[in-house]
Amino acid sequence: MLHQLKEKALEAIAQANDFKKLEEIYRQYLGRKGELTKILRSLRDIPEKERKEKGNLANQIKKKIDEAIKNRTEELSGQVKLVKEKGWIDVSAPGVLPLEGHPHPISLVQQQAEDIFQSMGFSVVEGPEIETEYYNFDALNIPQNHPARDLWDTFWLKDINLLLRTHTSPMQARYMEKHQPPLRIIVPGRCFRHEATDASHDVQFYQIEGLMVGQNISVVHFKGIVEEFLKKLFGPEVKMRLRPGYFPFTEPSFEVDIMVSFADKSGTNSANCKKLGKWLEVMGAGMVHQNVFKAVGYPLRKWQGFAFGLGLERLAMLKYKIDDIRLFYSGDLRFLRQF
Ligand code: DAH
Repeated sequence: MLHQLKEKALEAIAQANDFKKLEEIYRQYLGRKGELTKILRSLRDIPEKERKEKGNLANQIKKKIDEAIKNRTEELSGQVKLVKEKGWIDVSAPGVLPLEGHPHPISLVQQQAEDIFQSMGFSVVEGPEIETEYYNFDALNIPQNHPARDLWDTFWLKDINLLLRTHTSPMQARYMEKHQPPLRIIVPGRCFRHEATDASHDVQFYQIEGLMVGQNISVVHFKGIVEEFLKKLFGPEVKMRLRPGYFPFTEPSFEVDIMVSFADKSGTNSANCKKLGKWLEVMGAGMVHQNVFKAVGYPLRKWQGFAFGLGLERLAMLKYKIDDIRLFYSGDLRFLRQF
């Protein structure tokens, strides 16, 4: 009976063509309720002499089956199978690369932007995502009940006076309270707005705030620095224009559009990206309002400076020719693996 069982098991193993089948066979014979396991267990109840003999045999068979399953598993996996099927193996074939993590496209652009601004003497600082009403609005010359507050649809927190920052501008005030000019900083960070989403708006997004304050800083400095930044990021053909705008914390204020042409140096097939070859608004900017200096305790009219807030997603969309902002936070691996 034991011999029969062995033959049956070995034959099944030889014929098994996948791991699932092998697992089944293992369970059938050697599992907790397997046929051989049951026999081994029943040995307890038979006379000693018989037990020894039968036990030896059963254990040998158990070993055989176990080995046969192992061998067949190896055979089925990889090389042995390949050699058997094709008669050869290509030892020079590239291996299968394990999947590795890598930076998100937003992080990539943020890193490049930080490098470029640092090369122009800017320090990188960060601020809190949960902000007080004071820094997000009041210190930026947007008092309570000022209609301009409507420009920022805000997620308010239950705790009184706390909110998710709607822009990175609060760090202007936080930084200037603790530092004296001359200064130049950029502040990358995540912001939040209570808005309907579409292809170019999401409830969360990244900005880079810029601030440069000194004795005679003018719009000319602003234009020069931002142009240099854009050229380093997109190449020399990038075009930029300023339009008049309104922000309570700057005077005058402007909005900055840029145009990245089809014939950029990356040479990828970009004809289907709707954003290329058109003006796209990428930042708000202006000369820092004296009321902001006043709020941080600087003497009036002593300092001048420019500030800007640029949208990182917009830059990344142009750089990598992405049409829909929502892709960034979709978690879709088909999208993410391209970077
Ligand atoms: N904080 C503004 C926003 O998110 C953008 C901005 C405009 C930032 C002008 C600035 C600035 O620093 O000077 O809409």
